[in-house]
Amino acid sequence: AALAELASALADAETAVALTGAGISAPSGVPTFRGEDGVWGDEFDPEDFRIGRLRRDPAGFWRDRVDLHDRLFPDGVEPNSAHEALASLEAAGRLDAVVTQNTDGFHAAAGSETVLELHGNAARVACVDCGATRPAEPVHERVRTAVEAGDDEALPPTCPDCGGPLKPDVVLFGESLPRSTFQRARAFAADSDVFLAIGSSLEVEPAASLPRRAAAGGTLAIVNLASTRADGRADIRLRADVTDVLPALAARLDAD
Ligand code: OAD
Ligand code: ZN
Repeated sequence: AALAELASALADAETAVALTGAGISAPSGVPTFRGEDGVWGDEFDPEDFRIGRLRRDPAGFWRDRVDLHDRLFPDGVEPNSAHEALASLEAAGRLDAVVTQNTDGFHAAAGSETVLELHGNAARVACVDCGATRPAEPVHERVRTAVEAGDDEALPPTCPDCGGPLKPDVVLFGESLPRSTFQRARAFAADSDVFLAIGSSLEVEPAASLPRRAAAGGTLAIVNLASTRADGRADIRLRADVTDVLPALAARLDAD
């Protein structure tokens, strides 16, 4: 019944927006941050990934960062049927944008066109001094090699253009979100007749403020295996796996 309700709300919506979190990539083999199998806790300490640590202890930061990256994105992980369903809904004119907290780039890879990456993209690194961005993998490989060889001189990695410090092109704890991307996301949320919050605990601000903004004017739907911070405001709750809900939703709207 909730799925039918959501399909009909989307069919009627002038503007529909999705906000995704780690849960949409979990079926691809990317671990989540919170909850039972989340990496924050015994495995990794979020305090180690603050912008202040990168400034204070860049070599240590980069060692931990490459470990985290390799844990989050094992070789061969790729988008799943839930990402594909969102791309199909957009192509069919049923969805206007995907706002994501994920840094895996899976929405664009699955064919979504209007994608707002609130927390950046882990496949890139950026130079703190000159701003140049480049693929992360060669930088990660340098860090792995230095760590294996016990070669502390080779750390931290620096910008090949200007020698400045490098940073993963993601939002670290203690940093603000890319301003214009977040402003666009807020405008989409405010305009939305249907706002779909998918696979996110909705615990991290300011991303978690988007469903609050949306709920004021439209239908808020939540797709999650578990409860979230925003369940109390939701009009429609689907407590199920993203790979069950989203392909079925696309099928109902003839978008598959
Ligand atoms: P969380 O790890 O906090 O939440 C993941 C959510 O996905 C949980 O609510 C799960 O119940 C749900 N979930 C897991 N598997 C699912 C499935 N197959 N189907 C449906 N739901 C599922 O992840 P986020 O909310 O994305 O920040 O976390 C937000 C931010 O916190 C991340 O972007 C990251 C982290 O610190 C940065 O990296 C800046
Ligand atoms: Zn540089």
